[in-house]
Amino acid sequence: MWYFNSPLVVFGEDALNELVAIQGHRAFVVTDSTLLKLGHVDRVTARLKEAGLEVRVFAEVEPDPSLETVKRGAAQMADFGPDWIVGLGGGSCMDAAKAMWVLYEHPEMVPEEINPVVPLVLRQKARLITIPTTSGTGAEATWAIILTDTAENRKLALGSRENMADIAIVDPVFVAALPPQVTADTGMDVLTHAVEGYTTSWHNDFCDGLCLKAIQLVMDYLPRAVLVGTDPEARERMHNAATIAGLGFGNALAAMAHAMGHSLGAVFHTPHGRAVGLVLPYTVEFTGLTAPDRYADIVRFLGLGGSVADAPRLLAERIRSLAREIRQPLSLQDAGITRTQFEAALPKLVQNAENDATLVASARIPDSGELSRLYACVMEGRAVDF
Ligand SMILES: NC(=O)c1ccc[n+]([C@@H]2O[C@H](COP(=O)([O-])OP(=O)(O)OC[C@H]3O[C@@H](n4cnc5c(N)ncnc54)[C@H](O)[C@@H]3O)[C@@H](O)[C@H]2O)c1
Repeated sequence: MWYFNSPLVVFGEDALNELVAIQGHRAFVVTDSTLLKLGHVDRVTARLKEAGLEVRVFAEVEPDPSLETVKRGAAQMADFGPDWIVGLGGGSCMDAAKAMWVLYEHPEMVPEEINPVVPLVLRQKARLITIPTTSGTGAEATWAIILTDTAENRKLALGSRENMADIAIVDPVFVAALPPQVTADTGMDVLTHAVEGYTTSWHNDFCDGLCLKAIQLVMDYLPRAVLVGTDPEARERMHNAATIAGLGFGNALAAMAHAMGHSLGAVFHTPHGRAVGLVLPYTVEFTGLTAPDRYADIVRFLGLGGSVADAPRLLAERIRSLAREIRQPLSLQDAGITRTQFEAALPKLVQNAENDATLVASARIPDSGELSRLYACVMEGRAVDF
C-alpha cells in the first residue's frame, strides 16, 4: 500500500488572489529578507489583510535553513498564535515553515524528531499555505523538510506526510524576474527530481507521467527562462514544471543524486539545485549500468533514439548539454573546488551521502568505495564506467 499526497494546487496568473478567500484570524508568514526587499512579501500580506487576517512576518530564513532558525521562528509563531502559516520563498522558506509548524503544534518536539513514522496530528492549531518564489524544489507540494545541522555540516532529510501543505499557490508573478543563476540552479533541481522520481526503486504509476512531463518542460523551457529571463511563457511553464516534479518525486522519493548533492551542499555550501544537477549525469551513468530500462523510457520519450543499453549514456549527455547551455558547472573543478579542498572533504562527503535518507531509494545503491570513486569522477568531470 502507498499514498499519493498533494495539496490543493492553485496555479497560473493571478493564483495569488486565492488568498483573499482565506477564512481565518491570524497568518504567520515565513520568508527571507531578499523577498521582503523585492516586495514579494507585500504582495502576500496585502491579500491576507484583504481577507481580514492579522499578519506577522518572520523574514529571517537563510538558504539551507538551520535547526536554530526553525526553533527561533517557532517561538515567534507560538507568541503570535496563527491559524494559518504561509511559507513564502524558495525551498528554504517553505521547509522552514513546515518544520516551525510542527514545533508550534508540539512545543515539546525538536525538529530532528520529525519523521514519517511518528504521527504528528497536525492541524489542531494551524494549516499551511506554500507559495514558491523559485521554480525548483517543489517543496510547495512535497512533505519533505530539509534542514541543516550546522554543527555537524550535514543536511537532515526530515518530514511526515502530515507536513503536506493544505494549499500551494503557484503564481508565476514571483519568478518573473528571478535572477539567471538562481533560475539555472533551481531548474536543474526540477530536472533532478523528475529523473530520480521516474527511476527510483519506489517509482509508481501515479508519478511516472508527472515526472516525464516535468522532464520535457525543463528541456523545452529552462534555456529560455535562463537566457531570456523576460519570456513569460518559459517562466510560467518552468514554475508549473517545478510543482509537477515535486508531486512526482515527492510521491516516489528521490535517490542518490540527492544523497550526493545534499552532501556537497552541506560541505561546500553549493546551492542545492546546482549540487544535485551537477551529480545527476554521473548517477545516471552509474545506475544505468545495471538498471538501464527506466532511463530508456525517458530517452524514448525525449525522442533521443539509441538502444536500451545506450540510454543512460545518451541521457547523461543530454543533461550535460543542457547544463552547458545554461552555463552550469559540469564538474566540481568547474564549480571552483580545488583538489586540496576536495581531498580534505572526501571522507565527509562520502559519510554524509551514505547517511542520507534518499540513498536507499536508488535503483543501484553505491557502497562507500563506489561513492568515493563517484565523487572523484564528479571532481574531474570524468564519465562513470563502473
Ligand atoms: N522539501 C523538499 O521537497 C525539497 C526539495 C528540494 C530541495 N529542498 C531544499 O530547499 C532548499 C533550496 O531551495 P531553493 O533552491 O528554492 O533556494 P533557496 O530557497 O535557498 O533560495 C536561494 C536564494 O534565492 C533567493 N530567492 C528566492 N526567490 C527569489 C526571487 N523570486 N527573486 C530573487 N531571489 C530569490 C533567496 O532569497 C535565496 O537567497 C535547500 O535547503 C534544499 O535542501 C527541499
